[in-house]
Amino acid sequence: MCLRVHKLIVLWLGFVLLTLVPRSCLSVEIDREGLPDTGLNTTDWETGALPPLDDMWELNDFQIAAKNVLGARWYASYRTAALDQVTYEANMNIWKKIRLNGYTFRDVSDVNLNTTILGYNFTVPFFIAPAAYAGHTNASAELSLARAAGKMGALYAPSIESTKTIEEIADVGFANQTMFHQEYVWSNRTLLIDDLSRIEAAGYKAIFLTVDNTGVNGIRVQAMRQTGELDSDSGHSASFTLDALAEIQNLTTLPIVPKGIKTAADAKTCLDLGFPAIYVSNHGGRVLDGVPTAVEILLDIRKQYPEVFEQMEVYADGGVRSANHIITLLALGAKAVGLGRSPIFANIYGEDGVDRMLTLLQAELQTSLQLMGEADIQNVVGNTTYINTKQVEVEYFGIS
Ligand SMILES: Cc1cc2nc3c(=O)[nH]c(=O)nc-3n(C[C@H](O)[C@H](O)[C@H](O)COP(=O)(O)O)c2cc1C
Repeated sequence: MCLRVHKLIVLWLGFVLLTLVPRSCLSVEIDREGLPDTGLNTTDWETGALPPLDDMWELNDFQIAAKNVLGARWYASYRTAALDQVTYEANMNIWKKIRLNGYTFRDVSDVNLNTTILGYNFTVPFFIAPAAYAGHTNASAELSLARAAGKMGALYAPSIESTKTIEEIADVGFANQTMFHQEYVWSNRTLLIDDLSRIEAAGYKAIFLTVDNTGVNGIRVQAMRQTGELDSDSGHSASFTLDALAEIQNLTTLPIVPKGIKTAADAKTCLDLGFPAIYVSNHGGRVLDGVPTAVEILLDIRKQYPEVFEQMEVYADGGVRSANHIITLLALGAKAVGLGRSPIFANIYGEDGVDRMLTLLQAELQTSLQLMGEADIQNVVGNTTYINTKQVEVEYFGIS
């Protein structure tokens, strides 16, 4: 009897204490890290639990959800960038300096978002870029990325450092789905040749060859604080010279697209070496901190070697979180635009999350296009009448 009364008193005290705790202590407050505030309400979320998928209305929402659900270790691993994150911040903020030109009095009743990448048909001009080890967000890892991309008709290019194997990802794709695959320039040549032949045998149609972290990875301080150690040996060749770049085209019959081009000079080199395309990228700010954004690199290539855009395809990525960012890069000459972190963050919900993320972006793109008075995405590619980049140009090139 005495024990029961004691238990009741403890319960009652607990209840009283709970009612005294301010509401804010129970609700989740997440540092948005400067992301635009579009009204996402996290007060009903539970720390560490997956928030409702229908709270997600734009790409940044998925980052906040991932921050809530992933432990600090894995959130830092995906989100982090190199050193002072100057390039990462620039990637995220460059868009504020760009204005879109929207025209009225045009027929936008029939919108086309279809495009081709290296001659393959896709329903949207954006794609899922390679990002290592998707498995720490969801057990389905790269398989959900491949499925969601296939469902939409978008390109996916898995990383060679994926959680799932080259073959597992290929197998989960739809019968008519086109995927490319990323590869690093391993110092172990046997491994390089073996990877290239497995990629080809598994049915991937092209290779994004990442050339911006030869020898070493970037130093990602936030991630190192979590792991307590410097990034391990990358295994990438540190002696990947121009001769080696030229020669690598002989190791596979698949088209090779150098990824991580960040100067106009390197873009011209790739053109001269006969590559069919280049991929302008600073690796989401994760390698050499301080390098320019895709916007600045594309502007520089336009200025110095405009023939690049006429003679080869150009893809670009870095900080792309909305349709207007895609439109900007397309207008500067990119044929297709990559998404790195956003699909990874959306994958905390598995395939449903990636589906929703891609669908929201597609809807944004269609809407922006119509509001700009353009019905065909192809008319945006390389058409700078749709954007005003003067503020960036003045800052980047100086006043001459
Ligand atoms: C967690 C993570 C892992 C990545 N892994 C690779 C990789 O294995 N190979 C590669 O070429 N790029 C990799 N990248 C770079 C992306 O392909 C892409 O260039 C970059 O993330 C684009 O920037 P965004 O994240 O702002 O969209 C990775 C990026 C992130 C965030």
